[in-house]
Order: sequence, then C-alpha cells, then structure tokens
Amino acid sequence: MVTIAQALARATSGAVSVDETAVSLRFEAELLLMNALGCSRASLLTWPEREISPSAHASFEQALSRRLAGEPIAYILGTKEFWDFDLVVSPAVLIPRPETELLVESALEIMTHREGIQHLLDLGTGSGAVAIALARAAERLRVIGTDLSTDALALARKNGTRLAGDNLGFLQGSWLSRELCAAIGEYWQADAAGLVDVIVSNPPYIAPGDPHLLHGDLVHEPALALSSDDAGLEAIKTIVIESKRVLKRGGWLLFEHGFDQRDAVAGLLRASGFDSIECLRDIAGQDRVTRGRLS
Ligand SMILES: C[S@@+](CC[C@H](N)C(=O)[O-])C[C@H]1O[C@@H](n2cnc3c(N)ncnc32)[C@H](O)[C@@H]1O
Repeated sequence: MVTIAQALARATSGAVSVDETAVSLRFEAELLLMNALGCSRASLLTWPEREISPSAHASFEQALSRRLAGEPIAYILGTKEFWDFDLVVSPAVLIPRPETELLVESALEIMTHREGIQHLLDLGTGSGAVAIALARAAERLRVIGTDLSTDALALARKNGTRLAGDNLGFLQGSWLSRELCAAIGEYWQADAAGLVDVIVSNPPYIAPGDPHLLHGDLVHEPALALSSDDAGLEAIKTIVIESKRVLKRGGWLLFEHGFDQRDAVAGLLRASGFDSIECLRDIAGQDRVTRGRLS
C-alpha cells in the first residue's frame, strides 16, 4: 500500500502541467486524490502518512493518466465551481469559465438600477451556470435557460433542480426561433412578444479554424458550444435580430464575446436599434461583455 505523500510524489515527479493555463500538476494531483479518497484538502495535507486502499489508488492513477492525456480536470472530476456553487459538468457542456461571471455581475447591476425586472432569458445555457446564478439572486425573477443541445439541457435541468428554486425552467430550441418564442410564452402563460426584461447569452463566438480550438480544454469541449461562422459572429448576429421578438422596449441584451469583438458587437446592437451600449472588461483586462438597451 502507498501513502498519500508517496502517491502525490510519484504523480508529480518530473512531470509538468499538461497545458500552460493549468495550475501546477501538484495541485491537480491533490484534487484528483481528494476525489478518489472522498476527503478534504485539509485531511490530505494533515495526514500525508495515511495509507491509501488499493482501489482508491487505482482510481487515482486512472484519473491522473486521463489528465496527463489532456482531458480537462473538470470533466474528470465531473464538477466545476461557478459563482457561489458547484455545477455538475460533462463533455456535453462547455466548462463554465470565471470570466463568464462578468455576465452575471452585469445583469445583476442592471437589476439593482431598474425596478420591476421579472422575466429573464439565458440563451445557450449549457450547464445552466448563468441562469442558475441569476435565478438564485432573486426569487421574484422568472428565469428560462435555453439550449439547442438536449444533452446540455438534461444536465442544466439536473443542476437547476439541485441549486435553484422553481423560478427557473429550461426549454430546448435554437436562439429565439418562432417555435421557441411560442414555447416561452406557453411556459410563462403570457404573450412572449415584449415580455422579456433581460436576455443574457454566452454564445459560441470563436471563428472556425481559430488555432485556440486546437489547445487545452477546448479540444474536448462540444464544437456547438465553441465556434460560430462569420468570424465567430453568426450566433450573436442571430440573437441580436431575434431578441426583438420577445424583448420589451427598454429591455437589455447582454453578450459575452471574444476580446477582439467589441466593436463588431456594438455595431450590430446599434444597427438593430439598441442604445446605452457599453463594453465591460474581465479580470484579465480584456473586453468581454457588451450590453445594450432596446430603444
Ligand atoms: C459558450 S457555450 C455557453 C454555455 C454556458 N452558458 C456557459 O456560459 O458556461 C454556448 C452554448 O450555446 C449552445 N448553442 C449553440 N448553438 C445554439 C443555438 N442555435 N441555439 C441555442 N443554443 C445554442 C451550445 O450548446 C452551448 O451550450
């Protein structure tokens, strides 16, 4: 039998992290060992001499080799923290990113400055990360997360049931197609036209063929979640146009987008009758979220 200290030492001896964005393999090895043993980091560090059962050691070694082969740690652990909760994740969904919390912050800021916001949509909800964070923020809000992928929606529903209340629902469909707008109206038992106060979306926005798609976690994430035609702008263009089917006058549309898409997104919003257009920067100082109000 090997001890905790021996397992960690072997895991990290002479190894380097599998991609430049990952924290050290030591930290990741600790996460994988915590998962295999079902224990806390504190217990791992307090009792390094504790022996590991052969089955726990085998499952740790197996997880470690998956990580060394490049699989995202979030998919191996099956969980990823976002906002103030942990989401279940699988290869059916994008792994929620810390920069996407800016989309949540920006929507919450709008809500604190405007009374009466009630109906909110999260288009392309994936794991449900953004929709869940917003539904948890205020019980009076009625939130729907949508996605084209039924596998993603199945996971979002699981996360939503565990983490949010009955003010959150999920619907399948493409952006704001007429069919989906009708389903939204049915779900809220109202005419969907002009009903929605805020639409948020972190749509796919990477241009097909962008070299970033060949690196790190992106290699393992669903293509549907990552790339969009027209230099990455097709989904955003569609959402801007279709948003007017449900957004009320004075309602807000917020996007996460690529660091170099600020002007293009602002131009699309302006051309479609939005005002008060503003771009916000993420913690890395990159242009990341643009919002506009329907005039
Ligand atoms: C970048 S991921 C965002 C996931 C999640 N909102 C997040 O921030 O972690 C984009 C999501 O859009 C969904 N998607 C792609 N095309 C779509 C479409 N035509 N209609 C609705 N959702 C779509 C993908 O399945 C994916 O879940």
